[in-house]
Amino acid sequence: MYDFWFGSRDEICANEERYLLFVKRMLPRWSNSIPDSEYLAIHHALSTLDLRGRRPVIVETGVGASTIVLLNFAMKHDGLLYSWDPNGPKGALLRSVCTDTLVTHHQKLLQQHWKFVPYNSHSVHLGLPILGELDETVDFCFFDSEHTREVLIGELARVSPFLSDGAIVSIDDANYSYAHTNVAYINMQRRKLNLSPIANPSDNTCEPFFREVEQFLRSTWGQVEYLEDSYKRTYKDDLFWAYFSSDRSVMGRLEMEKAEALEHRFDSWRISERL
Ligand SMILES: C[S@@+](CC[C@H](N)C(=O)[O-])C[C@H]1O[C@@H](n2cnc3c(N)ncnc32)[C@H](O)[C@@H]1O
Repeated sequence: MYDFWFGSRDEICANEERYLLFVKRMLPRWSNSIPDSEYLAIHHALSTLDLRGRRPVIVETGVGASTIVLLNFAMKHDGLLYSWDPNGPKGALLRSVCTDTLVTHHQKLLQQHWKFVPYNSHSVHLGLPILGELDETVDFCFFDSEHTREVLIGELARVSPFLSDGAIVSIDDANYSYAHTNVAYINMQRRKLNLSPIANPSDNTCEPFFREVEQFLRSTWGQVEYLEDSYKRTYKDDLFWAYFSSDRSVMGRLEMEKAEALEHRFDSWRISERL
């Protein structure tokens, strides 16, 4: 399915970003939820990790285009990506895409670099806490799952004990501010069922996630550096917005797209000196 000719190994290595975008842009929309500029910002942030010779361990919640860019880094540096998403078929699609692309390019076994866990990230016995049982130290995480503070901060709290000094924490939809219920998503699905929209509960508004996350990180780490990212420099010119404009304008009407705060859609921090 994805067995295209992407160029020779040398050509791909000479322009890795073009290769990564080539793979992303052929994904079906339901597995391609982040803009190209955010995808490349993840790629750039990964390249700033100071691994001191260690193999990187990466954690992701919510699979999709992000999985490709994260797995590419893990394979390139003989590291490991753990991804959580209860949507098993989505994980299977990405496994097939990555087999035809990254595996061919890196000539390495997928199973040795990607552990996909088709389950809820919060689960005690199969969620993020198993990183402790696996004795992992995490260098980079990207959270993009249910988009409520409850789930997001819950994920961060579960990964927190295993983060390395100097790790990078990054999040999608950092401009959302739902405390416990993702009203926009629920109303989109209710709309399809011809049900009337629910009102946003009065206790459902928190600070935008980028503030909530930074506050959490400051309660656990002595040094929390908010990172400048390439997304903020490039997102306005991103082809992704125009290419998916029909679907995005409908999402905007249903309040799933927070267009007014697009600059904070992606945010990241480097942490060190655990308190
Ligand atoms: C917006 S999509 C992820 C997009 C993806 N990062 C990309 O780059 O295209 C959100 C995903 O989070 C998953 N999800 C929702 N709640 C979750 C949870 N508690 N744990 C893990 N995954 C979850 C959903 O199944 C869905 O596939």
